[in-house]
Amino acid sequence: MIIDNIDELLKEIEGLKAQTAEELEQLRIKYLSKKGIINDLMSEFRLVPAEKKKEIGMKLNQLKTMAQDKINELKANFEQKAEAGVKPDLTRTEYPVNLGTRHPLNIVRNEIIDIFSRLGFVLADGPEVEDDWHVFSSMNFAEDHPARDMQDTFFIEAHPDIILRTHTSSVQSRVMEHTQPPIRIICPGRVYRNEAISYRAHCFFHQVEALYVDRNVSFADLKQVLLYFAQQMFGSETRIRLRPSYFPFTEPSAEMDISCNICGGKGCQFCKGTGWVEILGCGMVHPNVLKLNGINSEEYTGFALGMGIERITNLKYQVKDLRMFSENDVRFLREFQSAH
Ligand code: DAH
Repeated sequence: MIIDNIDELLKEIEGLKAQTAEELEQLRIKYLSKKGIINDLMSEFRLVPAEKKKEIGMKLNQLKTMAQDKINELKANFEQKAEAGVKPDLTRTEYPVNLGTRHPLNIVRNEIIDIFSRLGFVLADGPEVEDDWHVFSSMNFAEDHPARDMQDTFFIEAHPDIILRTHTSSVQSRVMEHTQPPIRIICPGRVYRNEAISYRAHCFFHQVEALYVDRNVSFADLKQVLLYFAQQMFGSETRIRLRPSYFPFTEPSAEMDISCNICGGKGCQFCKGTGWVEILGCGMVHPNVLKLNGINSEEYTGFALGMGIERITNLKYQVKDLRMFSENDVRFLREFQSAH
């Protein structure tokens, strides 16, 4: 009976083995090819009496599936063995390589440093936890200046003299107190202000400070450096304009605008239709600041400038919400993969 044959075949197939690709191919031909055993059984199936068709049909299907699975299993085994025989190439890079990205603020900070270093400015650094002297007094802030107010400055409770620096101008003082001119420094760093966090303000952000002190440093030198910086950073068509302003540590003081790099100066939503956007504060170092920090203000003059890195980054990349910079959302950070 055909049915007994099927049971035997089931057992036979279960125990199949193949050592080589040819052996495996022989087995496939024997059981599964057009002229193979299973196909023969299928033709015989026509002769099976009607009442047995259901039972035998099921067995036949089972046999066919089993034969196919077995051949596939032997094949997979066989391929694995073949692979195991290949020596791994240890010089190959592991794929995929997960590339990290620089933070947008670091990309822009590095660019600012590059531009100023081409003009001979060198990096300087100072502490974020500072004292009142370096942040305010040595920078010519009056005793009752509003910037010292509790609303702006984070104080360390047990030490009212110790604060989180509110600007990188403190590094000017840190450098001048131990260095005589010529001084040409650039100081990037984090600063803190007691502000409610929103899309346009944060309790910490980043600044870059530049200071140049030497004989005969003039406002014309400042303007030239500003123009060079603006055109290197935002493109050679960029124009600048200076508006009179006030800072305790510079006299005269100015704020610099650049022609809006989004609309090219025609006026758009970003520049509120004016064609200009403010990017930094600057001025000639106040003689009091030189004196307070041990530099002869009769002999030397200087200029200083300070800018917010977030602001420059917003201009370059149109980041609308300041909070994105500190949330570490990788979807945001990955957007800068090609920017450095
Ligand atoms: N320290 C100022 C601020 O935080 C920025 C600044 C303005 C720095 C003028 C300077 C400067 O060096 O000359 O708003």
